[in-house]
Amino acid sequence: MTTFDTPVPTATAAASGASATDRFRADKSPYDAVRDTPRERVDLLAREVLTAVHETVRRHKVTYDEYNALKAWLIGVGEDGEWPLFLDAWVEHAVEDVATSHRSGNRGSIEGPYYVPNSPDLGADGEMPMRPDEQGTPLVWNGTITSTDGTPLNGKVELWHADADGFYSQFAPGLPQWNLRGSFTTGPDGAFRIRTIRPAPYQIPTDGSCGKLIAAAGWHAWRPAHLHVKVSAPGHELLTAQLYFPGDPHNDDDIATAVKPELVLAPVPQPDGSEAVVYDFVLDPVR
Ligand code: DHB
Ligand code: FE
Repeated sequence: MTTFDTPVPTATAAASGASATDRFRADKSPYDAVRDTPRERVDLLAREVLTAVHETVRRHKVTYDEYNALKAWLIGVGEDGEWPLFLDAWVEHAVEDVATSHRSGNRGSIEGPYYVPNSPDLGADGEMPMRPDEQGTPLVWNGTITSTDGTPLNGKVELWHADADGFYSQFAPGLPQWNLRGSFTTGPDGAFRIRTIRPAPYQIPTDGSCGKLIAAAGWHAWRPAHLHVKVSAPGHELLTAQLYFPGDPHNDDDIATAVKPELVLAPVPQPDGSEAVVYDFVLDPVR
C-alpha cells in the first residue's frame, strides 16, 4: 500500500473547526431558505431521525454510561466548532446524492467545510495564487464548460484545494489569504486552462471531538487528495464537485464517502516533471 508523508500538524482542530463555524455563520442565514417549510415536513423528518435513534438504543441496549458519553461528546462538538466538519464528513454525501440525482450533466460531490466565495478572478487561462516556493507536482488542467446539448458556456470555475501538506488557506494558520483559491471565467468557447499544484491527501483534524470519535471507533481520518470546484453559468444549475487522483489509497476508503469513479482524473506526466490533465464539465440547464 502506498504511504504518504503525514502533514506537519500545525493546524489544530480548534482553529480549523472554529474557522469553519464562523465562515458558515457569516453567510446569509441558512434558515431563510426553509422559512416556508410546512410543519408536517419538519415533524416527519424530526420524528424519523429520532425514531432511528430509539431503534438503535433498543436494538443494542445502549447503557446510561454510553448515553452520557454521547451527551458529553455532542456538547464537545459544538464547543470545538466542529459541527461543519462532522456534518460535511459524515452526512453531506447523502444530501448531495439526492440533490443532483436528476442531472444528465455532471452530478458532483460534497462541498465540505472550506469553500470561500469571491476568490481572485484569473481569467480563462491562469495560475492559482501560490507561494513562490509552493511545494507539490505542477498540474496543468485544460477543460471546457458546456451545456447538456453541447453548447459552450460563458461560465466560471471556482477552484480551491489543500496545499502539499494538506492545509487549506483561511482555515490553517500561516498561509496567504487566497493561497490555492482562484476563479476562472470562460469565454464563448467555454475553455479554461488552469495551472496549479497537486494537493496532498487530507486528514480531517484529529485533536478535537471528531478525532475522539475516529479514535474511539477505530476509524481513520483520511480523505484522498482532491481538488474542489464550483462550476457555474447563467441559466444553468450550479455544479459543486471534487476531483481525485488515480491510485490514492483512500479513493476507495474516503472518510467523507465523496469519491465517484467519474471524478477520478487521468493526469499524464510531462517531460518537465509536471502533469497535464483534461477534464470537462457539462451543466444542466435550470429546469
Ligand atoms: C472535510 C474536509 C474536507 O476538505 C472535505 O473536502 C470534506 C470534509 C471535513 O473536515 O469534514
Ligand atoms: Fe476538501
